[in-house]
Amino acid sequence: MSFSLNRPRIVDERFDFLVQFIHLVYQQNPQANELISTALAHCSDLRTNYPDDPAIWQLSSIVARIIRNKECSCYFLGQAILLGLDTIDTRDMLNEMIATDDYWANTDTYLSAAKSRDGLIDQYKTEARRHFDLGDLITADNFSQRISALRNPSTSEQNDMRTLLAEARARQSANTLNAQYENTVEHLHLFWSTFDVNNIASQLKKYAITPDREQFSKIVSDLIHDADKPNSVVMEVGCFAGFNLNEVQRRLPKKLKNKTHFIGIEPNAEVVTKARVFFPDIEFRVGDHEAMIARQTVVPDHIDVCIISRVLMVMLPSDVERLLHYLAPRTDTLVICDDIFNLKGEMSVVRTPPNFYLLHNFSKMLTDADFSIDNVILADVPDRECTGFIIASGLVEGF
Ligand SMILES: C[S@@+](CC[C@H](N)C(=O)[O-])C[C@H]1O[C@@H](n2cnc3c(N)ncnc32)[C@H](O)[C@@H]1O
Repeated sequence: MSFSLNRPRIVDERFDFLVQFIHLVYQQNPQANELISTALAHCSDLRTNYPDDPAIWQLSSIVARIIRNKECSCYFLGQAILLGLDTIDTRDMLNEMIATDDYWANTDTYLSAAKSRDGLIDQYKTEARRHFDLGDLITADNFSQRISALRNPSTSEQNDMRTLLAEARARQSANTLNAQYENTVEHLHLFWSTFDVNNIASQLKKYAITPDREQFSKIVSDLIHDADKPNSVVMEVGCFAGFNLNEVQRRLPKKLKNKTHFIGIEPNAEVVTKARVFFPDIEFRVGDHEAMIARQTVVPDHIDVCIISRVLMVMLPSDVERLLHYLAPRTDTLVICDDIFNLKGEMSVVRTPPNFYLLHNFSKMLTDADFSIDNVILADVPDRECTGFIIASGLVEGF
């Protein structure tokens, strides 16, 4: 690929840094790797500071292409063209990307849809929902990945289900699928067990406002509200610092909140120490799924609502199966928040790149554990780690 970079209307040393960064990348200089996060931060800041300067958008498009976020690369280049940088170079580059995209008929159709990021996201949301409602999770996933890529310009675009399934089948034939699961889980465990607890306070605000978390806490609080039980137990497995439970609690009327017992189970003891200070109305217990099953971490015999958010994706398929078997006889309603597009799959697959997390074949896993699926809900705004919610009934009667 060859292109000429246009100078922005402004003088800003961050632009020069980015030009230098792009040179290093195209020279395959390993030093470029160390500069990626600064380059992404500069692109984001420059777009905010100079939204009308097409050269900034063109540069952002090239950086997005470098980190393999094709959706953002197209969108940023589209903005550069719409802002007047309609040169042979920029057109050729956008034409090349649109030509390999099955959804867009041509560049002009794309440009008219890409006048605003929100408009483009809305179009993809409509497509994701349409395919989801038709039961075509594979195509719904494709559109969800586009949304997620547009909402997260500083991360690479992840492969869609079609690609992941093909990869999993090839790995299964080559007997390397289990190793891929294990590598992925090992990496994730390292991350979650060594998380810097000093960052928790700043994450609290960020977590509470994401649309997927709002939707999740609304689903759970509505369930509690509709059942209106005298003394219900709401338990979260892998609750981290208790953000989700707190959000659910916050939505309940005081009377209902007072008669609901909230329990968070979390293996990271340091996080639990902080959580107890943040949320004194929630009872936290330290332990992972193994400790629960072995009864080292005590869990009530009857759980009215058990929630598991973004945890099953960090666990091996065999461990998810054991956890679900353990929960089914004591759980009334289970609500899972996860990447759910492999719901009907034949096996768990790994969302790549890199080996990011696992997508389980929840339908089979839940049925095998004697849960019955009541509802599967697409996230209104699908995001990388949450594409939807599964509501299932366990063997306990009465919720
Ligand atoms: C991605 S975070 C999700 C945290 C929280 N549930 C949320 O929605 O923000 C994964 C959490 O699961 C916990 N975890 C990891 N492995 C677990 C296991 N085997 N059993 C229970 N929790 C686990 C981690 O310590 C971490 O807090």
